[in-house]
Formats: sequence, structure tokens, C-alpha cells
Amino acid sequence: MRMSALELIQPQAVSKNELYDQLASQLSNLLLGERDLIANAANFSSLIFHSLPELSWVGFYFLKDGELVLGPFQGKPACMRIALGQGVCGTAATKCATVIVPNVHEFPGHIACAVESNSEIVVPLMKNGRLIGVLDLDSPSLGRFDNEDAAGLEQLIGILGRSVMG
Ligand code: SME
Repeated sequence: MRMSALELIQPQAVSKNELYDQLASQLSNLLLGERDLIANAANFSSLIFHSLPELSWVGFYFLKDGELVLGPFQGKPACMRIALGQGVCGTAATKCATVIVPNVHEFPGHIACAVESNSEIVVPLMKNGRLIGVLDLDSPSLGRFDNEDAAGLEQLIGILGRSVMG
């Protein structure tokens, strides 16, 4: 898809469910015909960062040689390596499950990459049943992420996973 054709959604004009449905459609078009993980993860990060409200950071950590290594992202510079089981990212990676943290200051072992982060959600990226990495979203707002966000982001990460499958 030509980037000039992409019009970003106005999030205040639609419900959260509608917003994720529209993002799913935009993302499918955006990734159409491209199978490179870095390229698709980079445009994924940009689309989400500029479309969802109240975010300070969106990006990926990829599993490499038994640890998580920073991938494409939008936001301020972040820590580059996270051990499995450490922080919110390492916890989601170990469990292969989405983790929602309403208040990062109350999460034991939270890795504070940016002072402005108060809540966080991490969604695993799987390919053929194996963990590839995690998607991490940070917000300056407490309690920014709920189960609707988890379902919406899992839908979006599924589109990314299928785009690079095979
Ligand atoms: N807070 C994360 C670290 C990554 S940054 O938020 C970008 C964690 O606890 O795993």
C-alpha cells in the first residue's frame, strides 16, 4: 500500500471495538504483499502509535538466543535487552500470554525504561505455535489498557504474524 493513501483514524469518533476493527483493516492493507518481519513490525508500530490515544511507547522485543532484544518501535529510546521472566515483557514472553499492568509501579520487577509510563500491556507474537517476540505498549495514564485492548491487540498481532508466516 502507498503510504500517501493511508488516512489515520480519529480515535475519538469511534468506540474502542470499532477502532480496533478499523485498525485491523488498515493493517491488513498496509502489510499486503510484504513478508519481512522488521518492515512489517516497523509499520505496525507506527500505525498503532499514531492511531491509539494515550500512548507513550509502542514497539517490539524479539526473542534471540534466549533473551528479548529491542526491535522496531515508536517513542523514546528504550532498554535493548530483557531476560525471559524479567519485567512485564519477559513475563508475557515466558507465559506466552497477554499481560495487562494497570499500574506499573505496583508490578514487581517492572523495568522502567521511561519515567512517563504508568500502565502497560504486552502481547506475545507467535508463529507456528512458537514465540517470536512481544509487542509492548506503554501509557502515561493509569489503567489505560483493558480486556478490549487485549482482544484488539491480539487481533492485530495475529495479522502481523500471518503476514510473515511461512
Ligand atoms: N517496561 C517494560 C520494559 C520495556 S519498556 O517499557 C519499552 C518491562 O517491564 O518489561
